[in-house]
Amino acid sequence: MTKFNLLIQDVLQGKRLSHIHDIFVITDEIDYPGVDQVFPMYPEQSFFLEELVKPKIQGANVLEIGLGSGVLSIGALKAGANQVTALEINPRAKIFAGFNALLNGVEKALHITDGETENIWAPVMGKTFDYIISNPPFVPIPADTDYYLHSDGGGILGLDFVEKILSRLDEHLAPNGHAQIVRTASGDNQLPTALLELANTYLTGSTLVKIDPFAFPLKESEEDLPEDLPGGISISAEKIAEIIQQLQSKGISHTYLCVIHYEKGEKSITTQLSKPHPDWHLPLNNS
Ligand SMILES: C[S@@+](CC[C@H](N)C(=O)[O-])C[C@H]1O[C@@H](n2cnc3c(N)ncnc32)[C@H](O)[C@@H]1O
Repeated sequence: MTKFNLLIQDVLQGKRLSHIHDIFVITDEIDYPGVDQVFPMYPEQSFFLEELVKPKIQGANVLEIGLGSGVLSIGALKAGANQVTALEINPRAKIFAGFNALLNGVEKALHITDGETENIWAPVMGKTFDYIISNPPFVPIPADTDYYLHSDGGGILGLDFVEKILSRLDEHLAPNGHAQIVRTASGDNQLPTALLELANTYLTGSTLVKIDPFAFPLKESEEDLPEDLPGGISISAEKIAEIIQQLQSKGISHTYLCVIHYEKGEKSITTQLSKPHPDWHLPLNNS
């Protein structure tokens, strides 16, 4: 084995190399012990990449909120975007994303910028973009619990972060721009109602929500919330039961995987089934 191969083998110890579409990304392993885990690949990133609107992304000036490993920004650049400004609050993610951009030959066009926790739009105040993308944190987490930076969506429905995005999307989207957000969303047994309500509250233009045909019954998906997380974080079984009870009292029974497309114009909200993304709650096993 050459010195270089040995070096790469060493660098990849405890990390995960994934191949998704035509992109290679290094992330943390699933069992990485800390809140600063760099988010591994799930079917959601694949769903997002399939949905990129080619005529809109070509030559676009893109904003990503929540860069993580960089997979979505790299996908946007490989699909023809001119440049991406990418916001991130996790220092480890910024390092991984820079490395991944280099690995995929797009480092010149990726501008990694510090995110802000409270006012997520502050780093791009006064700026507009042709294409805004995000895979925001979305796990329902009680207010007093520290959780993975990549998943603490805030609030009992996990909607606080996406609410911050939607509430100021119009202000930062260019007149003919396009926004694309992938996320899980809770709802009843028919539709991701909580997300649709939020879209109806904040979005003044045309919204299309593509929904994976498989919705998880609430109990099944919430059982995925680990009770004891590495790094000394723990969510008790009682707390999880409490979250489920609160969700049920709000009429929430299922969790959906969705990609939201949004453009300015006449207000409308449409839903459409996407192709299936089997086992979308499990990490991709393609290292
Ligand atoms: C669900 S992960 C998605 C990462 C990556 N885009 C992907 O799809 O794999 C969400 C990311 O948002 C980042 N994040 C959380 N709060 C943020 C904020 N206020 N501003 C910018 N990024 C933030 C997290 O650190 C995490 O990397």
